[in-house]
Amino acid sequence: MLVLGIETSCDETGAAVVEDGRKIRSNVLLSQVEQHAKFGGVVPELAARSHLEGILHVTGAALREAGVSLKEIGLVAATCGPGLIGGLLVGLSFAKALALGSSKPFCGVNHLEAHIYANFLAHPDLAPPLLCLTVSGGHTDLVYMEDHGKYRILGRTRDDAAGEAFDKVARVLGLGYPGGPYLEKAARQGKPGSPLIRTDSLAGTYDFSFSGLKTAVINRVHRYRQKNQELPVADLAATFQQQVVTILLERTFRAVDELGIKTVLLSGGVAANGELRKGFAREAAAREVRFFCPPLELCTDNAAMVAAAGYFHFQKSGPSPLDLPAFPRLSWKLQE
Ligand SMILES: Nc1ncnc2c1ncn2[C@@H]1O[C@H](COP(=O)(O)OP(=O)(O)OP(=O)(O)O)[C@@H](O)[C@H]1O
Ligand SMILES: [Mg+2]
Repeated sequence: MLVLGIETSCDETGAAVVEDGRKIRSNVLLSQVEQHAKFGGVVPELAARSHLEGILHVTGAALREAGVSLKEIGLVAATCGPGLIGGLLVGLSFAKALALGSSKPFCGVNHLEAHIYANFLAHPDLAPPLLCLTVSGGHTDLVYMEDHGKYRILGRTRDDAAGEAFDKVARVLGLGYPGGPYLEKAARQGKPGSPLIRTDSLAGTYDFSFSGLKTAVINRVHRYRQKNQELPVADLAATFQQQVVTILLERTFRAVDELGIKTVLLSGGVAANGELRKGFAREAAAREVRFFCPPLELCTDNAAMVAAAGYFHFQKSGPSPLDLPAFPRLSWKLQE
């Protein structure tokens, strides 16, 4: 079955055609990054308007690149949450109208599930049960996926998401936007120093907290400035990154050990981080556990992962109603 996927939850307008939830036939993305860069973050109203301007062109391009007509599409799937409400409404309304007008079934997709399904596109033999750490701009969720559509959240962030912390620290260090990739690049030139925070207040749980780490960086930056000293940007970036990676590894692989997990995944934008990927590969190999992560281009938001998640959801639960609303906040319950 060919699925047309639509993604508009943040600042990327995406459309993709995916075959049987596994094979990408096209994956078109119109990024708004430059538009938001001057504000240092996504401006929701601007994002929604840009989705509206771009969605038709992007969808046309996705069909053309896949070499298929709308007639051959078997399902239209769109992100229904979580995300920015204006953008979600654009993609969701567009997908519903397209499905209704062409007599196709429609399916609403949880964006967080879609991040997990990015792995299914890249690794054809991947199947649940598995453990996935989703680390993105808005989430840090450690999730046990028992089966398609069946999730149990083991832990999540109590404050900032990992990606959000990368972005904020990058801004404080005067690096580019969005900060994650720039911070990783700066860290490559630096050496990690003494830990920013010595005690783990959530030790023994599977939850995360990153706001203390972020504040510790801000305090160090202030101290350098007060003393009129040059900021060791690369070393601070390396120290911050190392501590984030350490905590993500500790939680995930403690869960692997305690629950006897055999397959572990990374997903979400921060899964593009080289140190995190290396750390996961190392810890998984040490335990003879299978480890998968998406290729870099499928880590951050894209519509192929939405099409894949839509396919598996449709196989299990059928279509969504056409009055399905957009959910700015949505956890893992939609498809349980
Ligand atoms: N190499 C990297 N190292 C660290 N962080 C990165 C890297 N590449 C991207 N990121 C971070 O990933 C985040 C974007 O990921 P993604 O597109 O999955 O998030 P989102 O869609 O905004 O949030 P959500 O999926 O939670 O709604 C940003 O915070 C970005 O800085
Ligand atoms: Mg995302």
